[in-house]
Amino acid sequence: MQDLKSNLYGNPHSGCNSSQMSTEAIEHVRFRILQHFNTTLDEYSVIFTSGCTASLKLIAESFQFSGTGKFLYHYDNHTSVVGMREIVTAQSQCIDVMNFELPDSGVSLVAFPAQSNFSGFRYPLSKITEWKEKNDSVFVLLDAAAFVSTSRLDLTKYRPDFVSLSFYKMFGYPTGLGALLVKNTSGHVLEKKYFGGGSIDVSLTSTSFHSFKKKLNQRFEDGTLPFLDIIALRHGFDAIDRIGGSFDDVASHSYKLAQLTFEGLSAYHHGNGTRVAKVYRHGDYVSSDEQGPVVNFNLVQSDGSFVGYAEVDKLAQSYDIHLRAGCFCNLGACQKFLRITDEQLMQNFKAGHVCGDSRDMINNRPTGSLRISFGLASTLRDATRFLKFIEECFVDDAVSMATTQPDEKEKEETACVLKKIFLYPIKSCGAFEVLEWPLSDRGLLHDRNWMVISPNGVCLNQKRFPKMCLIRPCIDLNAGTLTLCHADMDEQVSVSLNSETAVGGITRLKDCVGKVCGDRVSGVDCGDEAAEWLDRALDLQGLRLIHQSMDDQRTNRRLKKGDSDQSRGRA
Ligand SMILES: Cc1ncc(COP(=O)(O)O)c(C=O)c1O
Repeated sequence: MQDLKSNLYGNPHSGCNSSQMSTEAIEHVRFRILQHFNTTLDEYSVIFTSGCTASLKLIAESFQFSGTGKFLYHYDNHTSVVGMREIVTAQSQCIDVMNFELPDSGVSLVAFPAQSNFSGFRYPLSKITEWKEKNDSVFVLLDAAAFVSTSRLDLTKYRPDFVSLSFYKMFGYPTGLGALLVKNTSGHVLEKKYFGGGSIDVSLTSTSFHSFKKKLNQRFEDGTLPFLDIIALRHGFDAIDRIGGSFDDVASHSYKLAQLTFEGLSAYHHGNGTRVAKVYRHGDYVSSDEQGPVVNFNLVQSDGSFVGYAEVDKLAQSYDIHLRAGCFCNLGACQKFLRITDEQLMQNFKAGHVCGDSRDMINNRPTGSLRISFGLASTLRDATRFLKFIEECFVDDAVSMATTQPDEKEKEETACVLKKIFLYPIKSCGAFEVLEWPLSDRGLLHDRNWMVISPNGVCLNQKRFPKMCLIRPCIDLNAGTLTLCHADMDEQVSVSLNSETAVGGITRLKDCVGKVCGDRVSGVDCGDEAAEWLDRALDLQGLRLIHQSMDDQRTNRRLKKGDSDQSRGRA
């Protein structure tokens, strides 16, 4: 911030001082990036992109294959690498880089990750030299996005032709900035077609003629660079220097946390001796040369069944633990580790499961897993808190070795009896307890029909505002009212169950829209009296109580899915 306050940085395409300042600062950052990777501008060029994905796409668009050359991509690659196959001009083949046949003729491209973004496994970079020695028309694209976030890639020791990365993974900021590092002697296999501002020496507007700039980075950087973001990188590198060391310290610190977490998770057993976690890994976390600071796992119950990752993730959030869940844009590794065949993946897709949703189990089998990624800012406390969370929530201490089936009498004794029903009329507020209750086509009548929204229209939840649990809603079906009480307040407030009707002076105000569990929800404002009561109850300002419209998209969506009128009844 101080840098921006005291220096005027202009668009780098001009000759004025402010512009020159930016140009010099950008060139300094290019130098600093290469220095970080132990190389120089004589060896590599830095092409700034909007991120690792854009760098990969740039290679796919411009790499010149020849003869019978192929595009070979490793199965354990990020989706952004796999997608390259759709636009490269050569035949594509999915391989295992640890063991495959190099094409013996034609210019080919082999793409693999320095570190798997699924398991954290670090692939041997010595393969690059091995392949290049065997066939110098094989070019290597190293996807270093996951690796460089905690480790320093040494481009003097290993010399891939192309390296893709995103800077937010290294420093957290800036976002939307990445780079493609190109070995200068390999630049000739990239052909640029499109030309944008800044990438040419000359072009004719009415005739098809243009001449690209000679320097690789100038040729491939179209338009104005995000110069302030690039300048911010310098502060990222400075910050690493300031905390007293190098990226090697980040590497060993984060690796030790992952090792400890792996050992802790692996040591947890249920009372009957079965393991609590299945960790997806290639080795035993013996060395950071082979394993990055990542732990990928699923939890298993004492009866051997998996706990869905979405369930673990939700519970973790209530402990303020941030996990990544799903397949992490790496379906190849996900399929391998979770033993999901192509046919099963297609069946899951047809059953409605898509990347990023929360359908964590299909046919009792996990569709993805959970991943912890440690980094520069992670602490020992983070690791121990996570382990404690697992112990508290998922380790079943009971020693249960039941081998015989319960007899009929036992079954009767253990049969479930519904004793009470809890409704939650207002999302994230307290419960309303009843012994019986009518059903509607959306489940329990009036359950989760109201929500509290902030002045900017966002639905409040108990995770962020724990005091919401002190608000006790109470429904009187005969009077047609919802009454709100609070343990520490004498006053109550009532609103009509029917949002179209005015009750106690409350009139329908404006229509509004909120978001609940990712769905757009429209509703009717319940008036000023309820709003002011909520402000006092939660010690906030500008809150509104919203009654969900009966014809909103959530309702419609559920009805479409087949929750028909058959469900009407009484619980
Ligand atoms: C190994 C790997 N490659 C590529 C990417 C894509 O990076 P971005 O989304 O920043 O373009 C990621 C992102 O997580 C990654 O981990």
